[in-house]
Amino acid sequence: MVDYVIYGRGSFNQLDEILAPQRKDEAPIIFLVDHFFEGKTLPERIPLRGKDKIIFADVTHEPKTTNVDKIAGELKDEFGTVSGIIGIGGGSAMDLAKAVSLMMTNSGSAADYQGWDLVKLPGVYKAGIPTLSGTGAEVSRTTVLTGPTRKLGMNSDFTPFNQIVLDPELIADVPVNQRFYTGMDCYIHCIESLQGTYLNEFSKSYGEKALELCQEIFLKKDLWDHESDDKLMMASYAGGMSIAYSQVGVTHAVSYGLSFLLGTKHGIGNCIVMNHLEDYYPQGTVEFKQMVQKNGVEIPTGICKGLTDDQFDKMIDVSLGMKPLWENALGQDWEKIMTREKLRDLYEKL
Ligand SMILES: NC(=O)c1ccc[n+]([C@@H]2O[C@H](COP(=O)([O-])OP(=O)(O)OC[C@H]3O[C@@H](n4cnc5c(N)ncnc54)[C@H](O)[C@@H]3O)[C@@H](O)[C@H]2O)c1
Ligand SMILES: [Fe+2]
Repeated sequence: MVDYVIYGRGSFNQLDEILAPQRKDEAPIIFLVDHFFEGKTLPERIPLRGKDKIIFADVTHEPKTTNVDKIAGELKDEFGTVSGIIGIGGGSAMDLAKAVSLMMTNSGSAADYQGWDLVKLPGVYKAGIPTLSGTGAEVSRTTVLTGPTRKLGMNSDFTPFNQIVLDPELIADVPVNQRFYTGMDCYIHCIESLQGTYLNEFSKSYGEKALELCQEIFLKKDLWDHESDDKLMMASYAGGMSIAYSQVGVTHAVSYGLSFLLGTKHGIGNCIVMNHLEDYYPQGTVEFKQMVQKNGVEIPTGICKGLTDDQFDKMIDVSLGMKPLWENALGQDWEKIMTREKLRDLYEKL
């Protein structure tokens, strides 16, 4: 779990104070900031000291193991070691920060650690500051990376942040569509966790709260205001906590295939899939569609049109490789339920 959490409007202003005890001699703190903020005012509010450095992270594409290796390698060449890595941004920038922190101390390539409990050493101090809410990356024990052969997280006890700063002011200006796609990632985490076979009271307690918050802001309220941002930030946190102790399900398993083959981003990919999951999450799919309509958002369709058999096979391979997700969704006999043919039909609908 995350060691320290601070939540509240304006809490970003406490960053200097929060980081002070983590500074080790001359070793700098590195701020990995979502490139959206380049030239904006947020970087000016970052409390730089000594050799501290801001690196703007290009998140046009979701993070790759090669990006992680490059940044960690350059930091080691330039500074030897660093006092900490602070990720400021959406799920992509936060995941990048987690992974770079781990690769400052673990040898080899980030690709060597894609999987479960392969990371051997704690990374350097790391903190996460979301500027976009929904993924739950701020609380999870994984960092999702696309490697040479697969898209898979570095899942480990060393992966969670040491500190997170949850300041709802930072998500106020996210464009409506992006806010919806990433917000729906949280909604889908709730549905998949609450309807999964891995469910337990821990996950349920967080999942139900997160679901209630999502329903309130995406369905019941007519206007998006500061209170909606406050709630979305807590929904993301609670939704993340819910899947931390259970698993995601069909939507994520299918959307990983899209992402691997077509580069479809996590939030929008999940929405594209959730739009067609009546057979698996009947209630959740209906409610999802109501949310789409209420928020006036467009969900792309026809994205698998014209793909070759080989391409469909690749997506099916990637998807069926996510065994724990399928088992959580469909139970131990999932392989009998989700055949390659059925999955192909589903991909063709997208
Ligand atoms: N570690 C985990 O547990 C976990 C869980 C789910 C998803 N993920 C990962 O998270 C990533 C998706 O994250 P995401 O949906 O947060 O999107 P993202 O981080 O990819 O960002 C999406 C877009 O929003 C922009 N953006 C970020 N903050 C903004 C702001 N305040 N205002 C305007 N624009 C802003 C970014 O520049 C980018 O263009 C994927 O890489 C996915 O694999 C990780
Ligand atoms: Fe997700």
